[in-house]
Amino acid sequence: MSAKFNVLVLNGPNLNMLGKREPTIYGSQSLSDIISLLNNKAEQLAINLTHLQSNAEVELIDSIHQSYQKIDFIIINPAAFTHTSVALRDALLCVDIPFIEIHLSNVHARENFRSHSYLSDIAQGVICGLGSNGYEYALLAAHSYLTTKSQD
Ligand code: DQA
Repeated sequence: MSAKFNVLVLNGPNLNMLGKREPTIYGSQSLSDIISLLNNKAEQLAINLTHLQSNAEVELIDSIHQSYQKIDFIIINPAAFTHTSVALRDALLCVDIPFIEIHLSNVHARENFRSHSYLSDIAQGVICGLGSNGYEYALLAAHSYLTTKSQD
């Protein structure tokens, strides 16, 4: 089956440490475990999946700019940049690509500063607190959104 949709998955700072990092909050799976499960799912859904994890805001922004008119949907866990980055928000507005914001933990049940996101109000949707399953749910939601849109 040839890939129909192009989806970019972006993971922000410290998510390369998943599995080792505060496992009671973020779980025991590594980021490569999560991405390899997601790649399997993407193949079943005829989605061409690209993934980037970066600890550098500039790399995430560059990758969003490079997605312009190439990527149909973005799934982003902006990690700590969620709570700080007007620049990431502006980058997503620049390219006008629909996106889902995702967090492994329930950011609303933690420190107050984690409840504020610079991205949520411009996202298609937000998934948080469902651990690594959230990535798969986001991919299913992206697929459903793109399928509906392609039938318009
Ligand atoms: C996170 C939540 C953020 O508050 C935190 O800075 C992260 C990870 C999550 O996936 O739960 O790095 O985005």
